[in-house]
Amino acid sequence: MSIIKIENLSVQYLEQEEKALDKISLEVEEGEFIAILGAHGAGKTTLCLSINGIVPNMIQADMFGKIEVAGEVPPKIPVRELASKVGSVFDNPEFQMSQLTVFEEVALGLQNLGVDKETIIKNITTSLELVGLAGFEERSPFEISGGQQQRLAMASALSMKPQILVLDEPTSNLDPIGKEEVFTVTRRINQEEGLTVIIAEHEVEVIAEYADKVILLEEGKITQVGSPEEIFPNIVNIQSEVGVRIPQITDFASRVPDKFKEGIPVTVDQAVKGYK
Ligand SMILES: Nc1ncnc2c1ncn2[C@@H]1O[C@H](COP(=O)(O)OP(=O)(O)OP(=O)(O)O)[C@@H](O)[C@H]1O
Ligand SMILES: [Mg+2]
Repeated sequence: MSIIKIENLSVQYLEQEEKALDKISLEVEEGEFIAILGAHGAGKTTLCLSINGIVPNMIQADMFGKIEVAGEVPPKIPVRELASKVGSVFDNPEFQMSQLTVFEEVALGLQNLGVDKETIIKNITTSLELVGLAGFEERSPFEISGGQQQRLAMASALSMKPQILVLDEPTSNLDPIGKEEVFTVTRRINQEEGLTVIIAEHEVEVIAEYADKVILLEEGKITQVGSPEEIFPNIVNIQSEVGVRIPQITDFASRVPDKFKEGIPVTVDQAVKGYK
């Protein structure tokens, strides 16, 4: 069943000549892991913010076309309410923190929704466990690592029991360990908890391994949609044009295609299995 249905959606920020999104159409099935790729300014963030309703409800823009997310029409319901269906994580973890303790940080969204105390405590405990931050309740959100902060942001989003998690370049400000932590948790909530994941991310090696579907955005338009195996070998020769890198193994394999008769691999595992 489709959990996100987008049809001919265009978004134009006020006083901008170009559309940030230009008649895009997209259907996402429940439980899918979707990666959004594209150059600087291609519209990745705008797509994420259209799904969680921040555009146009908090950041003004003209929006045309249809968008339905978990049965709701994002422009028509308050962002805070939609948060119980769509959780969001952004690129800069520190900007997402405002409370004195990890516990209070996660409690914030639930309190805003008017959830009872018992449920709040239960949801905080389970979401901190899910992101591997059980025991961090009394720590300051400002004195933990970037990877921990991002996992805390994920716990805050997850505490509202959303069906979808939207992550906009969640690892771009993290060191390699932090990146790994965030990817591991993202995969866990997708595979074990069944959440639909929409992620804008430049780490194509990880995308190749995790994503069911890759969406390529170019100047506000979706120009390619498909599995990593379909998309990455397709853009080997246009990487700089579209502003997207491909996995190194795909780059390598496509130079010696005769060694990979069953198809160009996108992960090292596939390469090892397919090498002749
Ligand atoms: N708040 C805003 N007001 C006006 N124009 C904006 C706003 N946010 C984004 N834009 C413009 O919309 C277009 C798409 O931007 P968007 O931030 O969605 O791209 P992106 O793919 O996320 O880029 P990046 O890789 O830099 O994060 C760009 O031309 C950008 O300048
Ligand atoms: Mg962006």
